[in-house]
Amino acid sequence: MSTVDGRVIRVALLGCGTVGGEVVRLLTEQAEELAARAGARVELAGIAVRRPDKHPELPPELVTSDVTKLVTSPDVDVVVELVGGIEPVRQWLLDALKAGKSVVTANKALLAEHSAELFEAADAAGVDLYFEAAVAGAIPLLRPLRESMAGDRITRVMGIVNGTTNYILSAMDSTGAGYAETLEEASRLGYAEADPTADVDGYDAASKAAILASLAFHTRVTASDVHREGIADVTASDLAAANVLGRTVKLLAICERVTADDGTESVSARVHPVMIPRGHQLAGVGGAYNAVYVEADAAGELMFYGQGAGGAPTASAVLGDLVAVARNRVVGGRGPRESAHAALPVRPMGQTPTRYHVSLDVADRAGVLAQVAQAFAGHGVSIAAVRQRDANDTASLVVVTHLAPDAALRSTVDDIAKLDVVNQVVSVMRVEGEDQ
Ligand code: NDP
Ligand code: HSE
Repeated sequence: MSTVDGRVIRVALLGCGTVGGEVVRLLTEQAEELAARAGARVELAGIAVRRPDKHPELPPELVTSDVTKLVTSPDVDVVVELVGGIEPVRQWLLDALKAGKSVVTANKALLAEHSAELFEAADAAGVDLYFEAAVAGAIPLLRPLRESMAGDRITRVMGIVNGTTNYILSAMDSTGAGYAETLEEASRLGYAEADPTADVDGYDAASKAAILASLAFHTRVTASDVHREGIADVTASDLAAANVLGRTVKLLAICERVTADDGTESVSARVHPVMIPRGHQLAGVGGAYNAVYVEADAAGELMFYGQGAGGAPTASAVLGDLVAVARNRVVGGRGPRESAHAALPVRPMGQTPTRYHVSLDVADRAGVLAQVAQAFAGHGVSIAAVRQRDANDTASLVVVTHLAPDAALRSTVDDIAKLDVVNQVVSVMRVEGEDQ
């Protein structure tokens, strides 16, 4: 059918699994509307999969396993990559960009390590590189950072960007169960993948943090720059300790612009479990949902919330990018390029200011509190609050600090663990979302 002045944008789809399958469905079901919005028909030129025989649902004339041939075919305008992983995908996308194809991808692992190289190839060829689905699935987040907020100065991006770990922590919070049994239940229900390592060890969130920090602060941050701790060491005791003070535990990606006393700027990017007050907006984000908080000088605080994963939600973001690329092609223009002019250094985690919540089981006798307080003072860490509860001849002591360099807090905890009067360090966790 010849519509929209006969213009057609031809798409090579790489990968037709959870997300790719939904992209095919939506492209087919909404062909007319998409054509009207894009100003051109958006048609599939080919679909590359690993095992073509496993895809009887796809038109056989479109299916191939020869990705290299497909991405450089003269018949293709745009490559949509939904395979995942770094190699050989990096090479396929470089080949596609060099051949003048625009690229849409949801591949956070690749972008978190190789976005500079991909942007350079896109610039050299004068084509687009879009990746809205790479962070927080359906939630429009990267385009607001890249475009809507390009006139503002973003100071902080903090959020829940991994649905699997949020599901596990929410379940531990509501049931009081431990990490291992909750992970088992999450796998049984299909929330956690067969190999949940990338999610539970924080790699997935660290890739997303690198992408967010790069866009928010106009600099280059890679996954290896991001301090990463997963949730495998979060215990039922941590959740119970959080609960006592009206807090809960979340795995957060936190990206900050840090200004030193001499005015020099750097960025900090980290992923780790934190205690946040139950009244905080992020505390109410349950199950597999994502939510991201952005703070900027002029805009103030913004929050983005929605489904961070799943076939259809992620396909929504992919199609949004595809329509944007098609529109650009129709008018002969391009979307935004990489903006890395700030070139800010990444601050090591040890120098990043954080706050700690430390729960201790201590002997209940004179001088104990003084010894604990001395350990904090010895590292220059100021205490914000202390709470003690007695039980027979021991006491449960909770200390919450003011902001201090993370290395100083870590050393303090090491020293406290060695004190004779400390029976057990019950829980140590960073605190966010409260006045400092
Ligand atoms: P799936 O594992 O469901 O699908 C992967 C697809 O890639 C399959 O169709 C597979 O073929 C194909 N494939 C794998 N290796 C090759 C190869 N060597 N050559 C050709 N095709 C290959 O992945 P998802 O759909 O879940 O994820 C795709 C991307 O989207 C990833 O980058 C992921 O991180 C990202 N993403 C996923 C989200 C989600 O909720 N699933 C959310 C946000 C982002 P075959 O079918 O024959 O095996
Ligand atoms: N495994 C990821 C998650 C998928 O659990 O959030 C979305 O990127």
